[in-house]
Amino acid sequence: MLLLLSSFSIALLFYLSIQSIIQVNELSSQLHASSAPSVRKSDCRLEAINIVCNRWTWAPVFIRVYLIGIFETIYIALCKRGLLKHSLSQQLNEQQVDTLVQSYESTTPQTAVITGGDSGIGLEICKGLLEAGFHVIIGTRSMESGQRAADSLTKQTGSDKVSCVELDLTLFKSVKKFAAEIKKKVPQNQLQLLINNAGVMNIPCELTKDGYETQCQTNFLSPVLLTQLLLPWLDTKSGRVLFASSSTLYAIHNLDTTFSTCSYGWDGLEHYAYSKACIAHMVARLAKSTRVKIYAYHPGTVRTKLFAHTTVFNIPFVSKMFDFIMLTPKEGSLTPLQLCLRKDVDDSGTYWANGRMQTVPDVVVNGKKNDIDALWNDTLSKCKI
Ligand SMILES: NC(=O)c1ccc[n+]([C@@H]2O[C@H](COP(=O)([O-])OP(=O)(O)OC[C@H]3O[C@@H](n4cnc5c(N)ncnc54)[C@H](OP(=O)(O)O)[C@@H]3O)[C@@H](O)[C@H]2O)c1
Repeated sequence: MLLLLSSFSIALLFYLSIQSIIQVNELSSQLHASSAPSVRKSDCRLEAINIVCNRWTWAPVFIRVYLIGIFETIYIALCKRGLLKHSLSQQLNEQQVDTLVQSYESTTPQTAVITGGDSGIGLEICKGLLEAGFHVIIGTRSMESGQRAADSLTKQTGSDKVSCVELDLTLFKSVKKFAAEIKKKVPQNQLQLLINNAGVMNIPCELTKDGYETQCQTNFLSPVLLTQLLLPWLDTKSGRVLFASSSTLYAIHNLDTTFSTCSYGWDGLEHYAYSKACIAHMVARLAKSTRVKIYAYHPGTVRTKLFAHTTVFNIPFVSKMFDFIMLTPKEGSLTPLQLCLRKDVDDSGTYWANGRMQTVPDVVVNGKKNDIDALWNDTLSKCKI
């Protein structure tokens, strides 16, 4: 009986794997054919894998989150270490960041505000922007760590155009105070970039003082509030707003806009994926309300302290392996820096990964297919805007 069951499971797994590989290849060719000629050389396979994972509605959300992460990490590792000859290995490397930053030219002073710019990918984005000549203001929840980051950035780049302002995204009050500080520091219409980079993943599911699930408020609600408060300060000709999303958004089919805890259970990764899916769906709606360009992005699977709460990344030997196979923070800064600096980026309201625009799958909001207006209206009312 046991033998029969094992054989059946292996056969089923084999069948599903073959089916998935066929689907990924077909989808990848379709995506490739539908890309603009300028991005034809780009790798569409990761996007295709994510879309196939999104179609596995039979799998629980947390399983899909893990699968998306595992597939991407393995795929990128194979490309990076030269085992898969693919355009990704030429695209996602640190030299690309240097080339991008060095080729940026501007005749007028440029200012950027970035949340969580004192560590990980955010720190590398700050470095790139300082090297490109921007003034950078970092929103940090610890002024001590923010100042340390600012000093180190000045040492590395030779630019002292960096400062920090206190910001705690788990508190709407702090977000409002931060926005007011920025308005004192930067004249109206002279803010070119707002980068909503700060985020947390898989932390214990708790409610904030404002009454929302912590990851949801930190990763989604507060960045929306901050953006709404600073939009009138952004340069209407060249201003851009970026939101850090994540490929885990492909694990989500249903959104409910209570933004509390219970509807998604107590699994931290589900809450993370949910908050990042909200961002990717919301940017298209936000883009309709402003002339400022709005983008969401996935930086890749990048080795940072974001994974501190996910056990598997902290097992000593396994942790070393992840150091080796995942992207470096500088490599992870490439897609957001492209969205900040590339003059040819258009299509406001879109989601980007691996240097190109990607598909955002359909989603059901409060039981209604693609009701992004409901997401938008509920978000604004929760942020009391
Ligand atoms: N790494 C990846 O593979 C990956 C993949 C997809 C998306 N992303 C997204 O990319 C962004 C940057 O992540 P990372 O990998 O660079 O992680 P990280 O090194 O942990 O950086 C996150 C930053 O956010 C700040 N932050 C967290 N909670 C905050 C709060 N309540 N108020 C203000 N700041 C807060 C952190 O401040 P502290 O230093 O005080 O904690 C830190 O500076 C995140 O939004 C993440 O979700 C990352």
